[in-house]
Amino acid sequence: MREEIKIISPEELAVQQAFAQKVLLHPERPKTYYIVTYGCQMNAHDSEKLAGMLQNMGMTPAADRREADFVLHNTCCIRDNAERKALGNVTWLKEIKKERPHMLIGVCGCMIQQKVMAEKLLSQYPFIDVAFGTGNLYRLPEYLYEAITTHERIIRVDPNASTLVENLPVCRDHPLKSYITVMYGCNNFCSYCIVPYVRGRERSRAADDIVREAESLVASGAKEIMLLGQNVNSYGTDNENGISFAKLLHRVSQTGIERIRFMTSHPKDLSDELIDEMAHNSVIAPHLHLPVQAGNNRILEAMNRRYTREHYLEKVRKLRAAMPHLGLTTDLIVAFPGETEEEFLDTVSLVEEVRYDSAYTFIYSPRTGTRAAEMPGRIDPEVASNRIERLIAVQERITGEILESMTGQVVLALIEGTSRRRDWQLTGKTERNININFSGSEADIGKIIPVRVTGHGSNTLRGQKEED
Ligand code: SAH
Ligand code: SF4
Ligand code: F3S
Repeated sequence: MREEIKIISPEELAVQQAFAQKVLLHPERPKTYYIVTYGCQMNAHDSEKLAGMLQNMGMTPAADRREADFVLHNTCCIRDNAERKALGNVTWLKEIKKERPHMLIGVCGCMIQQKVMAEKLLSQYPFIDVAFGTGNLYRLPEYLYEAITTHERIIRVDPNASTLVENLPVCRDHPLKSYITVMYGCNNFCSYCIVPYVRGRERSRAADDIVREAESLVASGAKEIMLLGQNVNSYGTDNENGISFAKLLHRVSQTGIERIRFMTSHPKDLSDELIDEMAHNSVIAPHLHLPVQAGNNRILEAMNRRYTREHYLEKVRKLRAAMPHLGLTTDLIVAFPGETEEEFLDTVSLVEEVRYDSAYTFIYSPRTGTRAAEMPGRIDPEVASNRIERLIAVQERITGEILESMTGQVVLALIEGTSRRRDWQLTGKTERNININFSGSEADIGKIIPVRVTGHGSNTLRGQKEED
């Protein structure tokens, strides 16, 4: 699938800014908004841009979606359940709209970028007022203007998702921990995955733009930056003047930011240069999310992952040799078409061998248009559930053992706020990205402080602030 990468010019953005002004001045414009976000961090960050644009049009966030004038669903289509959840919520809102007919319902994001889904929405969900895909997110002001002036449904999906836009307004959810997208899209075409179809080709932002964004975040008080991309390890390779991801990390680490994380790394592109940068740069958190997906070579090949179990384990060995305290996490898929019990057990044994801090586990979900969806050998849902349960049990045991081994250690935690369950408890994230709760004073929120680990729950640590 060839797609042109389209860089959105300042003039095109100015056109959108003019639409934003017209919406702002329009008497029938929505006054409040509510964004419902599904999916990955990249989608969460897109929602921050959508919020930025809506605020630019004079709208304020509503506390509850039932009271909002404009409810926008930023959707995900990675698995069937992500789509069903979004459609369920949209349908639920239909009832609310009956009582508040001026309410506008919007749907955008990855789900809409699929042609079949856009057509389904058009025919089966007539109460949706505005819909647009991932590539034309920046045109929200124009679409909203059309919707409020024509009172017609605005469904705009450009088949090319490969746009690159700079300088959209952003309204950040977490002032302490900020996202920066360093590259968009994915060229890997893992056989099960829909992302390359709905997010377009890989396109890296210019390093100078990223560094400038990091500097402005530092100036406004950010402590941690997470650099985002579907495969950050191929950052810069689509661009003649591009620098490597390791060099980009180095540059961002010199902006004065206290901690950097990044997601996601594809194992096949994990370079020695990156391992070296991580090992020698104390600003980069010693945590790596390195999705393996499966532990069996036949399955890895059918998934088009382009590494073997042995290559993967060799990378893990190198990482651990360079950084003995590195926390590794992963993504795992069970019940890929044709997966036998023995092949599944190879995934279990790999998990035992690597000993991840934690893992996201998924049952394979066929996605229309991907190669795996055409493969024979669908696994019976009961077998699939049984496999995922066994895999989760193994990972839970390992997580427990790792957390137990941390008791007595002093970790550096970025204190993010008070615990949702108990107000007197502070909650933070360790360098390895593990949640830690401890009692302390709210004055510590926003600081990175040493905390001694005193115990743990199933996936969080408990601790006590170290007195200096
Ligand atoms: N770009 C990232 C992750 C993208 S999606 C990467 O390459 O690692 C996040 C995770 O969803 C994937 O790592 C994979 O484990 C899972 N996933 C993707 N497509 C899936 C599908 N069709 N069924 C089940 N899980 C899937
Ligand atoms: Fe999907 Fe593979 Fe790209 Fe990740 S690397 S987004 S799993 S195609
Ligand atoms: Fe979902 Fe799109 Fe992210 S499909 S996982 S929201 S890139």
